[in-house]
Amino acid sequence: MQEIVDLRSDTVTRPSPGMRRAMAEAEVGDDVFGDDPTVRRLQDHAVALLGMEAALFLPTGTMANLVAFLSQTRPGDSVILSEMAHPVLYESGNLAMVAGLMTRTVADPLGKMSAEQVAEMVVQTSDPHHSQTTLVALENTTNRGGGAYYEYYEIESIAQLCRNRGLRLHCDGARLFNACAASNLEPEYCVRGCDTVSFCLSKGLGAPAGSLLAGTRDTITRALRFRKMLGGGMRQSGVLAAAGLYALENHVRDLEEDHRRARAFRQALEAEGVPFALPSPTNILYIETNDPAGNIKELSARGVLAMAAGRDRIRAVFHRDIDDAGMNWAVEAFKEVLARRQPSE
Ligand SMILES: Cc1ncc(COP(=O)(O)O)c(C=O)c1O
Repeated sequence: MQEIVDLRSDTVTRPSPGMRRAMAEAEVGDDVFGDDPTVRRLQDHAVALLGMEAALFLPTGTMANLVAFLSQTRPGDSVILSEMAHPVLYESGNLAMVAGLMTRTVADPLGKMSAEQVAEMVVQTSDPHHSQTTLVALENTTNRGGGAYYEYYEIESIAQLCRNRGLRLHCDGARLFNACAASNLEPEYCVRGCDTVSFCLSKGLGAPAGSLLAGTRDTITRALRFRKMLGGGMRQSGVLAAAGLYALENHVRDLEEDHRRARAFRQALEAEGVPFALPSPTNILYIETNDPAGNIKELSARGVLAMAAGRDRIRAVFHRDIDDAGMNWAVEAFKEVLARRQPSE
């Protein structure tokens, strides 16, 4: 078992030994010249997985989202997202600052949007007072919504609406493969109807860095220019792409284990009366408490790291660096800290 059980995020995962070997042996070239064969292989792999025309390797999920927005909107447009979407909460206001976009946000505790909610938010008018909506962005799975995922038909109805209204649809699939595992869908079907899709290699998949953005050839050609503009053109990035390829070939199947451990963790704590704020169908859990900061300190004294999320909850995320022993250790620590703190009467 590890000395510290780090449940703060699935971004804390470290490259596995096989991944490190793949990185060391990667064939590389200057990717800004389009010369890196490993980056090209990774991009081709993403194209095949997602059933899209083209894909681009970027350093982070934040840049992948931003490039997707820049490539499909104009400054002054409005974008529809959940009010808890990552770009709304955690991307430093880049939508406003860099892309010049307005946000129109949908409220939902799981961070999801329905086609009806999206329809209510669309603004398309010749009245020059208003910002025109040109893009809808959904998150699958949702980060702040407890790892909720979209069913196939839910995305299909949003996609249908977008097609009918001439809107672009972006999927922030930072944890797309968790969504695929939970919904039992191949990635291609998980993103069917989306114009662009981003996914992260550096979360539950365990790579040290890297995200892919996929879409039509035209959109990805525009995306390439924006990636350069933002300083995201990388040179011998095949070393990173090799980690990504390794993750896609070897680590995706382990995500189900993360979900199993998250379920076991929750069941064990619920049996002790510890309340959870949201459903947790994948690897992200929110535990209700009235003292997140104090609890985090006590957990950390027991070798368990978790994150305070607002004033009334703690976030715990399961990932490939937490084994069964780590999960059991975390259960015991949470029990000690929270089971006696939550008044059950
Ligand atoms: C849903 C979602 N989108 C985008 C990102 C951004 O990814 P990165 O940290 O690689 O910029 C994250 C990161 O946690 C995320 O959870």
